[in-house]
Amino acid sequence: MRYQYVIIAILVILLAAPSRAETRLDRGRYLVETVAACGNCHTPKGPNGPMPERKLAGGDVIKHEDFIAAVPNITPDPETGIGRWTDDQILAAVREGRRPDGSLIGPAMPFQSYRELADEDVKAIVAYLRTVPAVYNPNAVKSRYDKPFPVSWGPPVGQVEAPSKDDRVAYGGYLAGPLARCMDCHTERKPGEPTRFGAGGKPFFGPWGISVSANLTPDKTTGLGEWADAEIERAIRSGIARDGHKLSPPMPFAAYEHLSADDMAALIAYLRSLPAAE
Ligand code: HEC
Ligand code: HEC
Repeated sequence: MRYQYVIIAILVILLAAPSRAETRLDRGRYLVETVAACGNCHTPKGPNGPMPERKLAGGDVIKHEDFIAAVPNITPDPETGIGRWTDDQILAAVREGRRPDGSLIGPAMPFQSYRELADEDVKAIVAYLRTVPAVYNPNAVKSRYDKPFPVSWGPPVGQVEAPSKDDRVAYGGYLAGPLARCMDCHTERKPGEPTRFGAGGKPFFGPWGISVSANLTPDKTTGLGEWADAEIERAIRSGIARDGHKLSPPMPFAAYEHLSADDMAALIAYLRSLPAAE
């Protein structure tokens, strides 16, 4: 008798699942946890990797040639997190790099990429941030930047819309650009030198030593030109290179593991559309 109920319950769940539309909160969870991987910076790491009980509670320090950035707590804790910020204030922090008191956030937070996030997507991100467990975690360290900040990081961001998912290459570009920031990590920008978009060469320093981002353009020798789609997908989801060796951080493989099949296809279509650069 009981078995029958269990089987009926499972059938009901299976039948109901595909028709359930993605809510704003679902979208926000997917963006924060998977595509944008905010926790790659905002969740502190212990000796065994990211600390799940301190999700998004900050506390790590990002070191760079020009700055030392203290990663803040973005959980809803009212005192040490962003619990007292309004939705619009969080939105302005993420897209315009500005705190509620008007002070500017340091450029170690990638708001320059996030300026292009669609309104619906930042709102979804904010909705999800409201639901993560509040963690009390005061920040002992202050960020230090060698270069002074400008008066603002740019004009106010107006309305932004995401490209249609039907245009696979354009949507893949939106994923690889503002959302997952593949292009930010995989492009080295040096003053006075031409920028080779997506051609890699940017160094990352951390407990793993130095890793240098790879060439994602379709160049046949130094890029992904000869890679099969499945090999690119494996590198993104599992951090395994074409020759089978394990890739180093800070690329957020653990988050990308859960990218949807559609988003993966869009990403690969976009990478294949880039001009090849050696
Ligand atoms: C590459 C690392 C990195 C990623 C990825 C990142 N952040 Fe940040 N974030 C930072 C750092 C570092 C700061 C503080 C910068 C400073 O002022 O020195 C910051 C600041 C913030 C602040 C302001 C908090 C405060 O108290 O000042 C918010 C809000 C925020 N991030 C939200 C997000 C969200 C949401 C995402 C994902 C969509 C995200 N961040 C992704 C590194 C990152
Ligand atoms: C935080 C920086 C960062 C982000 C974000 C990032 N990557 Fe990477 N990626 C790297 C680094 C660094 C390496 C090289 C690691 C190594 O050599 O061990 C790498 C390696 C790769 C490789 C393996 C290439 C090869 O030749 O071995 C692929 C493919 C790749 N990234 C694609 C992507 C895509 C697609 C995205 C966005 C969904 C992305 N990356 C986001 C830093 C990043």
